Amino acid sequence: MVCLGNICRSPLAAGILRKKIAEAGKNVMVESAGFEPYHVGERPDRRAITVARKNGVDISGHHARLFSVDDFDNFDMIYVMDQRNYRDVTFVARDENDKNKIDYILNLIHKFKNQTVPDPYYGNESDFELTYQLLESACDKIVAKL
Ligand code: 4NP
Repeated sequence: MVCLGNICRSPLAAGILRKKIAEAGKNVMVESAGFEPYHVGERPDRRAITVARKNGVDISGHHARLFSVDDFDNFDMIYVMDQRNYRDVTFVARDENDKNKIDYILNLIHKFKNQTVPDPYYGNESDFELTYQLLESACDKIVAKL
């Protein structure tokens, strides 16, 4: 799961997906990363932790990290939140195999539309709630595919 700061959307997406995978009794490695170094090492945004906790998901232990080219080797899919993330990940892709792993997470819900999960960072609690709902619907689709 990739976003910009790795403190709001992608840690939420990873936390939601991990929980759903555990509930489904599957064993899948899920991680998140970002491209903006500003928050590296920090815990997720307090509002992201809160909306997750309200929904029974604990993301408080995450520490923000940058996307690494190794992630292409370690993961089958790289889900991005918006166009900027898509450009960032595509830019560091080494070949077509890497590029084929990248997709907009909301394409799981609306195929080929490249819709974006809005960045809630400058928003309020209800923006985080919307982010959560979008990511939850997308993660349901991932689990259904497993
Ligand atoms: P995220 O949100 O990409 O969903 O983690 C952001 C968090 C921080 C910043 C931008 C987006 N920032 O510029 O600090």
